[in-house]
Amino acid sequence: MDTFLFLLGRTPELSVRELVSCQLEGKLLRDQIYQVERDAADEAALIEQFQQLGGSLKLLKVVGQFTDLAEEDLSKYVTAYLAQFDRPTFAVGELFRETFPKIQLTDIKQALKEQGISSRFIDAPREGLSAAVLLHQEVEELIVIRVSESQTLFAKTLAVQDIDDWTRRDREKPYADRKKGMLPPKVARMMVNIGLGELNKVSDTAPVVYDPFCGSGTVLMEAACLGATVIGSDLDQNSVAGSTTNMEWLADTYQMDVDSTIFQADVTHVHADQLDQAPNLIITEPFLGKQKPTPHQLPNVFRGMEKLYLGAFRQWRHLLADNSIIVIIFPLSQDGKNNYSLESIIDKIATLGYTATSEPCLYHRPQAVIQRQIWTFKFKKP
Ligand SMILES: C[S@@+](CC[C@H](N)C(=O)[O-])C[C@H]1O[C@@H](n2cnc3c(N)ncnc32)[C@H](O)[C@@H]1O
Repeated sequence: MDTFLFLLGRTPELSVRELVSCQLEGKLLRDQIYQVERDAADEAALIEQFQQLGGSLKLLKVVGQFTDLAEEDLSKYVTAYLAQFDRPTFAVGELFRETFPKIQLTDIKQALKEQGISSRFIDAPREGLSAAVLLHQEVEELIVIRVSESQTLFAKTLAVQDIDDWTRRDREKPYADRKKGMLPPKVARMMVNIGLGELNKVSDTAPVVYDPFCGSGTVLMEAACLGATVIGSDLDQNSVAGSTTNMEWLADTYQMDVDSTIFQADVTHVHADQLDQAPNLIITEPFLGKQKPTPHQLPNVFRGMEKLYLGAFRQWRHLLADNSIIVIIFPLSQDGKNNYSLESIIDKIATLGYTATSEPCLYHRPQAVIQRQIWTFKFKKP
């Protein structure tokens, strides 16, 4: 068995959920490092799986484990590792070694030269090279990880998230409405992967993803990239036109067949005959109220959202296939004195056939007044 490490993005809890949903069971080695054991023969398949994830930044493979490694020997081992390559261009990243001196790459280059090996290095930030640099350079990157006081790992970078591709879908799609708030594509992808994983547990039908608050179509795009049939609707006609344009752009840019239907509707009044087929997955970021409500507006804002969300769950009973999954964002706000959330609807929707499949996962931008909880429900017709 080989040991592989996933370096997680900014929302590690959500990233782990995504990994588990993709049947990549493992354990957290340290914050933001998730360890998976696999047969050496599975490496190529693992790289392919990694490329489908929204929440993992790098895939590493452990190439050395040391117990009680003396600091003065560290450079020697890094040099020995790099000496196996012919004229390497190398970089070294260091994790959890903030209190130790930085490994000096000039010393390593010199030591390699003394062994007759010419090399070049790229100076990296302490944690290693960014995805943008790694994507465009042939480079052997070694990451030195201090797992505990006594244990140090050497891991080589096997694959890196295709940051150009994520930026393309985030920034280059023709329609965007930043005032309304858009999901980052990586978060939408994690929600889709989590939904697909949960769906696999309850049904063997092909995924039909519905986003009834589709906005600019971020969820629809990520679901389509993974081959799902997608349906979107929104109250706002501009969003309907915009996400239709975005889906056409996706099909064009990625040269892929996209099976999508998008229409205008109030979430509480959608009829089954407006959908081509019954969805088995709802993945959605609903209306979350205004972006910066004042503290005295919060009670009203949350009352309004409670009504909207309940109305939506009531309506979805008439649209969803039996054994469906819902991955949905609930707003949450903590203003120091009071906590506002929609958790009060959990019991109410349980009587409608929706059961939470796990604890919610918190996802929020720093300083955001309205934070987001990602919930997953299973729907079974009562
Ligand atoms: C937070 S945005 C969703 C953004 C989307 N996830 C994206 O990345 O572009 C919420 C959307 O809900 C829509 N909306 C608000 N009230 C609605 C309702 N009652 N029925 C359907 N859509 C509604 C808004 O027009 C808006 O596009």
